[in-house]
Amino acid sequence: MAPQIAPSILSADFARLAEDVALISGTADWVHVDVMDNHFVPNLTLGLPVVEALLKHSALPLDCHLMIEDPDRWAPQYAEAGAGSVTIHAEAAKAPIRTLRAIRSAGARAGLGVNPATPVEGFEDLLGEIDMLLLMTVEPGFGGQRFLDVVLPKVRRAREMIKGRDLPVWVQVDGGVSAETIERCADAGADVFVAGSAVYGADDPSEAVRRLKAQAEK
Ligand code: DX5
Ligand code: ZN
Repeated sequence: MAPQIAPSILSADFARLAEDVALISGTADWVHVDVMDNHFVPNLTLGLPVVEALLKHSALPLDCHLMIEDPDRWAPQYAEAGAGSVTIHAEAAKAPIRTLRAIRSAGARAGLGVNPATPVEGFEDLLGEIDMLLLMTVEPGFGGQRFLDVVLPKVRRAREMIKGRDLPVWVQVDGGVSAETIERCADAGADVFVAGSAVYGADDPSEAVRRLKAQAEK
């Protein structure tokens, strides 16, 4: 699949979300929305009401990344609200199969996320239940952290697992993705790239997206 870029609004201006989303709507593929509950991660961002409001203003589909302790309860509601993709964390879900199926039945793509130290091998049997595997390339919680090269072999193994089963599962990387690191991620087999500070920290966010995409295509 051609590489897709999902700018993270964690690095946007929370008081001007609609305007900041409009800035990237010509070049980006998704808007990545980081939902944090201050329990699964040590940070608090936004929840369902803000996602519902943003859906009315975004020309791009929303890719909701739930970094919350109780995704089984909340994830289906994001899908029902109209999110294009909803990702739950393997470390947090108590009934991942039920929740992933509920996301899909509500019409959204279902994502499973794993933290840097969580192996993917344990989830091989779940690949048929998901549309995207999210491999965190920083410890989740904050934007602007340094990319963890130590995760790259896992990206490769995940891509091999998916190829071996001939499934149309996307591999997303999230954290520290930038002009310096995106080629390594693409080489390892990632095809969806979340970038927060590399996009919203740039003078021209739309141009930053275009450049990242060109680099991932190399
Ligand atoms: C971190 C979030 C990321 C974050 C990435 O926990 O999941 O989506 O916004 O930000 P950068 O690209 O700045 O590392
Ligand atoms: Zn994220």
